[in-house]
Amino acid sequence: MFTRKPVKLKTWQYIGLGLVGIFAILQLFPIDKTNPTAIPEKDLFAVVDAPVNVKSVIKSACYDCHSYETTYPWYTNLQPFAWSIKDHINHGRKHLNFSEFADYTGEDRSHALEECVEVLQEDEMPIASYKLMHPEARLNDETRQTLITWFQQLRGNGSAH
Ligand code: HEC
Repeated sequence: MFTRKPVKLKTWQYIGLGLVGIFAILQLFPIDKTNPTAIPEKDLFAVVDAPVNVKSVIKSACYDCHSYETTYPWYTNLQPFAWSIKDHINHGRKHLNFSEFADYTGEDRSHALEECVEVLQEDEMPIASYKLMHPEARLNDETRQTLITWFQQLRGNGSAH
């Protein structure tokens, strides 16, 4: 009579199943994607004027982490990547929130603008992992310089106060 052999898994198959199981469990802990309400009057660009190109670069390269206007792409549904992304957003907003720029004191504004110049000069922002997934945030030297000059002027002429 034909008897079926008991299924025997190899070690690597057990490990694979274990990893799939762990990955599945991580999916039970999604991130919170609700954005706090962004009040238009408090936004950086409500406080200061900017050329259209400057405004659009800052919005597309910085606003996902430094404002309440975050957009969450499909891979923010995948844990554990989403946790690290959410962490960046929380920390980013804490350091600098363009959606609350109107609430910053003159000193805070000046300091924020100075830091924007610094991180752009050092090419520290946008952070590398973000640029990996957002080609539009990979600033070329010319665009970076345009932003640096704009932030410097804004700080220098005191119009952000
Ligand atoms: C993917 C999220 C993300 C993006 C996009 C991003 N930042 Fe940041 N930013 C952060 C995080 C996280 C921090 C906090 C860094 C830390 O804790 O060291 C930060 C910090 C900063 C700071 C404060 C630096 C300091 O030393 O305190 C400035 C200024 C800044 N970012 C400017 C920008 C500008 C300008 C852009 C766009 C050109 C930008 N960031 C894009 C996540 C981001």
